[in-house]
Order: sequence, then C-alpha cells, then structure tokens
Amino acid sequence: MRMRRAWIIGLLALTAALCGCTKQQEEPEDTLLYEDEIEDSDDYIVVGFAQVGSESDWRLANTQSFRDTFREDNGYYLLFEDGQQKQENQIKAIRNFILQEVDYIILDPIVETGWDAVLQEAKAAGIPVILSDRLVVVEDESLYTCWVGSDFEEEGRIAGRWLRDYLEDQGRGSDEIRIVTLQGTLGSSAQIGRTEGFDEILAAQGNWNMLERMSGDFTLTKGREVMEYFLDTYEDIDVVVCENDNMAFGAIEAIQDAGKTCGPDGDMILISFDAAKSAFEAMQRGELNMDVECNPLLGPMVEEIIQKLERGEDVDRVQYVEEKCFDAFMDLEGILESRTY
Ligand code: AHR
Repeated sequence: MRMRRAWIIGLLALTAALCGCTKQQEEPEDTLLYEDEIEDSDDYIVVGFAQVGSESDWRLANTQSFRDTFREDNGYYLLFEDGQQKQENQIKAIRNFILQEVDYIILDPIVETGWDAVLQEAKAAGIPVILSDRLVVVEDESLYTCWVGSDFEEEGRIAGRWLRDYLEDQGRGSDEIRIVTLQGTLGSSAQIGRTEGFDEILAAQGNWNMLERMSGDFTLTKGREVMEYFLDTYEDIDVVVCENDNMAFGAIEAIQDAGKTCGPDGDMILISFDAAKSAFEAMQRGELNMDVECNPLLGPMVEEIIQKLERGEDVDRVQYVEEKCFDAFMDLEGILESRTY
C-alpha cells in the first residue's frame, strides 16, 4: 500500500515534533519527505536505505548502485541515510523510516549485533526489512525478510589459498612467514568473515605466524596508522593482509614512508579485498599483489527482491553476489576496460 499525501504531511509534523528539529537544523538532506516533494509521491514505492557510511571506495560504489536503481523514473522514492559509521545513527534512521511508513527498509548494518529492538519495531509496523552487504545476528530471524551480499568467509579463504599457492611457487612454502592483518570494523560481517576464512587456511600452515591483527576501521587514515604501528613494532613482516582496499592504500603510504616496498617485487606481499578500480591501479604500479573482489553493485538485486515482494512472490532468504579474485599477473588493463567500480 502506498503512502497517502495528506497522511504523510500530518506524520511529518509529528516526526519534526518528536525529533525536536527542523530540516535546516539537524536532519540530513534526504531524511524526510517535504510537502512539495510529496505532491508526486503517491504512486512511488518508498524505500528507506540505512547505509553504513562513506568510509571506502566500495561504499561509494554501493551507494551509487542504490541511487541508480531506486530512481523516481523507475517508480521509487529513495530516502537515503548515511550512518557515518555509527550504529546509533542507523537505528535513528530506521525509526524515522518507520515513522514515515515507508514501504520497505533496506539496512546495511555496520555491525552484526544490537538490532533486535529496532527491527522488532519495523516488524510491528509491518515494514519488510531487507539486509544488504552485511548481516545481523538476531534472536528472531523473522525480523528481516532476506539478505543479499558477499560470502565474506569464502573471500578470506580465497586470499589464504592464493597466498599458500603463491609462496609455494616462490619456493617459500616451508619458510616461516610473518603476517600482520589490518582488520575492518570489528564486529562487522565483512571483518568477521574475512578474518575467519583466512584463519581456516592459516591453521593448516604450520609455518605461518600471525604476528598481530588490529582494526583500521576500513579507512585509509586508520589503515595508515595501524601499518605505521606494525612497522615500528615488528622488524620483519613478510605479508600484510588488508581487509579492504582503502586500508591497503593507507598501508602502502606507511610502507613507502618507512623506506620499504610492497607488491610482487617488494619487501612485503600485500593482499587486499574489494578490487575497486583504484586497487587495480595499485596492482599496475606494482604495489599490491592480489585483491579478492567484493561486489558493491547490490542495488539491482535488492530491487528484484522488492518487485517479487510486490507481486506477492516468495524470495530467497540468502542471496550471494558473484565475485572473482585478481592478481598483479593478470591482464589488468583489459579487465579495467569493462570495470564499472
Ligand atoms: O562490507 C563491505 C566492506 O565495507 C568493504 O570491503 C569495505 O570497503 C567497506 O567499507
């Protein structure tokens, strides 16, 4: 059922009163529908998207995918909220969406836990919640309709297997290998899965020594800080695992500033996740060895789910997005030609 104009106007007054704020004061641009915008909203499917933030190239491509998909000329009205990497902002956004009685809520949860109460509120309001990218862990699984995203654990395994085979090829299969990991936001599905998947392969290699793991929160700045700390603390590092590209870019800066090198001909092997265009360029410059793809183009998959729900059809509870793995020895220029993110 679509939102009715007069009803929304009353609701907006209530929302503003509850928030104790005006559009000019605190609410981000896209949060609320306003009277002039509402004029045409009757026939749209109104979708509220609680995004994690804008911490990485991956995230920007992911947001763009949703903006490109949920367009007005495509029959949607998208309410977008940037959570700025804070769970409380995302919870507040969901409550706003509930107050506005959107038709669907899309949640990309920053961390897995702490969602039971607000998702219970969405369920009580009869609004389907679709999870995208990361997952939640809740007592009652009926609190969300379905999830679309990456197999993060498999991504971690792919990185581990690649490293095992690469070292073997280099004749270093039995050497002691000293590894550090720059982890993503602790408690996020991307961090948990990649760490656990890599660990599975590591556990089977008696000669791999994980010196330390530390979170760089998926950002370049923190990735750089963490890498500086690793370089100050450990004399010999053979492998740096970065749980996303932006932390890898920060790590590269720190390594170069310390007068060292990374990449196929460098002092350290550098592994990353996401495979954004900028990471391909780093591989072309010889700074990065390999990158496991994390596909951010989830908008169309979520739209297909919404269309099915609109028709009253069943949807798959779990849908993985297709992903590949790239290394510096591939035809990167050829791959880059058709790469959209
Ligand atoms: O959840 C996906 C991860 O989040 C991406 O790897 C990273 O770049 C982003 O911040």
